[in-house]
Amino acid sequence: MVRETSLSVSNLILPCFVREGQNLSEPITSMPGCHRHSLDRLLVEARGWVELGIHAIALFPVTAPSDKSSSAEAALSPDGLVPRALTALKDALPQLTLITDIALDPFTDHGHDGLMSQDGRILNDETVEVLCEMSVLHARFGADLVAPSDMMDGRVGAIRNSMDRAGFGDTGILAYTAKYASAFYGPFRDALDSAPKSGDKKTYQMDPANRREALLEADLDEAEGADILMVKPGLPYLDILRELRDRTTLPLAAYHVSGEFAMLKAASANGWIDYDRCLMESLLCFRRAGADLILTYGAVDAARLLT
Ligand code: PBG
Repeated sequence: MVRETSLSVSNLILPCFVREGQNLSEPITSMPGCHRHSLDRLLVEARGWVELGIHAIALFPVTAPSDKSSSAEAALSPDGLVPRALTALKDALPQLTLITDIALDPFTDHGHDGLMSQDGRILNDETVEVLCEMSVLHARFGADLVAPSDMMDGRVGAIRNSMDRAGFGDTGILAYTAKYASAFYGPFRDALDSAPKSGDKKTYQMDPANRREALLEADLDEAEGADILMVKPGLPYLDILRELRDRTTLPLAAYHVSGEFAMLKAASANGWIDYDRCLMESLLCFRRAGADLILTYGAVDAARLLT
């Protein structure tokens, strides 16, 4: 009766991986229970997710090494995996909200989220131009929300303008507002084979030591037209989530990232913790800290436990 916070399946967004091929569901070793699905398999799985009450997914494409390049051309191909997945999913499951990742790391041969100069610097403004084109492409193929995860400066406003000019004013932006340069992304980079080949992402992702910078990023993203703000990773950054909750009236999302998920799975596989209970507690704590939405690889497990 006096409980202050609730968790429902409508708070959950499932991140999922799509790959080329047919009838393939390739397990991701460091993320037990998660797979790289070929598109035909993804459609079958997605029907099951919708039956469980999941109403939004975030799509991440696995790119074959031969399709990666320094200029990330594959990110802009209308025949690419993401446009094909959007078309097929929208057709089969029009009620499912489709969120696409806007960043170049699945498509660059160097593994960075942006274009790189000869001397290894990430080219902010040049990258933003590509991200704008990528967003318009995804909007054209039916994305409901584009989610820039790249952390280039000024990309939210530029993407908003580009989509508006192209006639996609109704496509929303889920902004990775406070995305930290975190070691908790390891399993995700395994899943996409997208770890940076040189250097690190610290020139564009945030320093885990910084709090005020998150407030600045939130003010900028809000002013530039973001519809939802996100904090990433999740549990180690609940203080940031709470601060943003107190500062903005926009909906807030938190990303319970691959490393956090892997820790729950690994400890429970050893019999050290109870996965179901720790997952549900983690998700409830995101809600208590102020998240309206939680991206979690445990969304399907949680949906089952909530019904
Ligand atoms: C890259 C991206 C990453 C994640 C989502 N988009 C990894 C990175 O920044 O290197 C991580 C998600 C996770 O760990 O679950 N644009």
